[in-house]
Amino acid sequence: MKKQDALQDPYIGDPMDRVDGRMKVTGAAKYAAEYELPNMVHAVLVTSTIAKGRIKSLDTKPAERASGVLAVISHLNSPKVPGFAQHDHPAEPPTGGQPLRVFYDDKVYSNGQPIAMVVADTFERALHAASLVKAQYTQDKHATDFDANVQKAFLPSQAQKNPDSHLADYVRGKKEAYKTGAIKIEAEYIQPTEVHNPMELQAIIAHWEAEDKLTVYDKTQAVKGTQRAFAKDWGIPVENVKVIATFVGGAFGNGLHTWPHETAAIIAAKKVNRPVKLMLTREQMFFMVGYRPHTWQKIGMSATADGKLTAISHEAIGQTSSYEEFTESTLQQTKMMYASPNVDTRYRILALDVSTPIWMRGPGEATGAFALESAMDEMAFALNLDPLEFRMRNHTDTDPDKKLPWSTKYLTECLQEGAKRIGWSKRQLKPGTLRDGEWQVGYGLGVGTFGANFRMAQATARLQSNGRVIIQSATTDIGPGTGTAMVQIAADELSVAPANITFQLGNSAFPHSPSQGGSSTISSVGSAVQAVCIALKQKLQETAVAKGHVAFQGAEPDKLLLQEGQLALSGSTAASVPLADLLNGQQELVLTAEAKPGDERKKFSMYSFSVHFVEVRVHSVTGVVRVNKIVSCADAGTIVNEKTAGNQMIGGAVGGIGMALMEHAVMDHRFGRYVTKDLAEYHVPVHADIPQIEVYFVNKPDPYTNPLGTKGIGEIALIGMAPAVANAVFNATGKRIRELPITPDKLM
Ligand code: MOS
Repeated sequence: MKKQDALQDPYIGDPMDRVDGRMKVTGAAKYAAEYELPNMVHAVLVTSTIAKGRIKSLDTKPAERASGVLAVISHLNSPKVPGFAQHDHPAEPPTGGQPLRVFYDDKVYSNGQPIAMVVADTFERALHAASLVKAQYTQDKHATDFDANVQKAFLPSQAQKNPDSHLADYVRGKKEAYKTGAIKIEAEYIQPTEVHNPMELQAIIAHWEAEDKLTVYDKTQAVKGTQRAFAKDWGIPVENVKVIATFVGGAFGNGLHTWPHETAAIIAAKKVNRPVKLMLTREQMFFMVGYRPHTWQKIGMSATADGKLTAISHEAIGQTSSYEEFTESTLQQTKMMYASPNVDTRYRILALDVSTPIWMRGPGEATGAFALESAMDEMAFALNLDPLEFRMRNHTDTDPDKKLPWSTKYLTECLQEGAKRIGWSKRQLKPGTLRDGEWQVGYGLGVGTFGANFRMAQATARLQSNGRVIIQSATTDIGPGTGTAMVQIAADELSVAPANITFQLGNSAFPHSPSQGGSSTISSVGSAVQAVCIALKQKLQETAVAKGHVAFQGAEPDKLLLQEGQLALSGSTAASVPLADLLNGQQELVLTAEAKPGDERKKFSMYSFSVHFVEVRVHSVTGVVRVNKIVSCADAGTIVNEKTAGNQMIGGAVGGIGMALMEHAVMDHRFGRYVTKDLAEYHVPVHADIPQIEVYFVNKPDPYTNPLGTKGIGEIALIGMAPAVANAVFNATGKRIRELPITPDKLM
């Protein structure tokens, strides 16, 4: 795609190919475990086989004697981690409680917890020696079964301390008003534990370059957060920790926290004084790097006979570990999505003898939307009303929770456009009406929303005298195409062709970026990239004026272009100066700028919205559910790259199908151990499960979210998909499945 004049024909919006696509598909892209360091050795973890108790003894002798073994490390001989002594051991981002202190003492908090580690000269020798380590335990009675322990659920301490917390009990209007409603429904919904299964396994290479200087190549979504956490752990200055995550092979949220294996590798590197590589097995991924927590929900809802909601009560209890209070925004959508005068929510967590959960794509909002959007469908059915029409009748033009106008909301457009594209008119009100041979056919929809986040971010621009531009920020790119979008943003702002712009990321030495989480990267880092491009042009303009090029005096940033090695001025007062003259003989001009949310953001309520439409076919004999067609519509503000954003939507839809039909980490409570712990047992969708997915973007800039007008896509791509499938299954069969995943046995 050739762009002559970026002012006329912007790069933003183009379906540009990924700048790193070729590197990824040819293997040139290096992921954490692929770095080779001189003298590097390998660590393999030994994990607990009980869910609760103490390590009575560890027999490490046979492992120590095995070939190639340099060390067997456990709580008995681990180098001390200074940060572990503080009660408030840092997690990034902070959760309540205290993250697991690996090899700290003899306590076992969950099955699969690291209890020892073998370091050897090769991976195979470390793996073999790890199998020789034998532990004896003093076992305590464990509690891993959610249902059996649900009465111990409690209000998160954050909400206990602060009644204004979003996790605190919430009442708008009257509490439990649905109970006296004209037409009412009441139902319970179960989201089972799901585990992030990105293609790339969690991995780290830890290297102490000096006594107090640490470099890690780490799989993380937050290089700055990881840097801060390790610096605090080891009591060393933040700048002494270097975190590299140039490529990340998917993460879905499990890279938003630092985990025990990371600290274990750093401990190993300290102990043997050599760089150490540690990669988890797929099985270990189920036990120590987070998961979407099992969550029970109950919704009561009432409406008038003409389809106006009168009340919603929504309760949720999510699982956490015994040592950390993981919480998420399961109930947020219920507070703001529909115009109901009475809404109350109640959120609790339940501590079990399991590892700590973490946000998994869509996070709590996806869990909450399963209940809310299923309940909306149940209510519409009770009213004998089309569920799309029911949502239209309960549309709200202001946020009833924050009592603020929306910055933008094109939900109605998403509903209408999606209905047209899926062929909603074919849908029958009466379930079980449509058939195609042995297949029952049904249609469903689910609405999603997620806050349009914007967090402070910085970017550095390095303009070379030849006109090339390098831009740096410490964000990561876990797959959405961040690097590509940033090049497009810079190309537009500078009028430099994308081929002459390089965006560098995934390095803690670069200026601040928030973690790549919560659908905030384009808005936050994109705004910083735009800001530094404007700053760069202004700096060049000042220099030009100072050098006597008066035509540049007072020129607006959007009239300034960098073209063919010149700073140029567009419009009637056309002028240009060679960049070389403006760099004062320097090789490059380096500038850093920052973007952060302003007060404007407080005047509006800012959310992205999505609507997912699905057509399903349910086999009347076997109960197999096939998703036949998907149309996902999104109001996410400006779409910077139609292709990568479209990929995000497709990926989210695929994740949503997994959530709806397959994903379930099944635990054997006799042992507190998952029995589904590889991709043969834990099912995720494969190509044969995925139909044509059509994506529609409203693509209207939001004037208030940030200078780019973006609102975020990553989460809304998935939020609302699972209930869309469940609602379609109901429409096809008349069977309402309130416990995910919707497996054939539930439809028989
Ligand atoms: Mo996302 S769950 O914020 O990686």
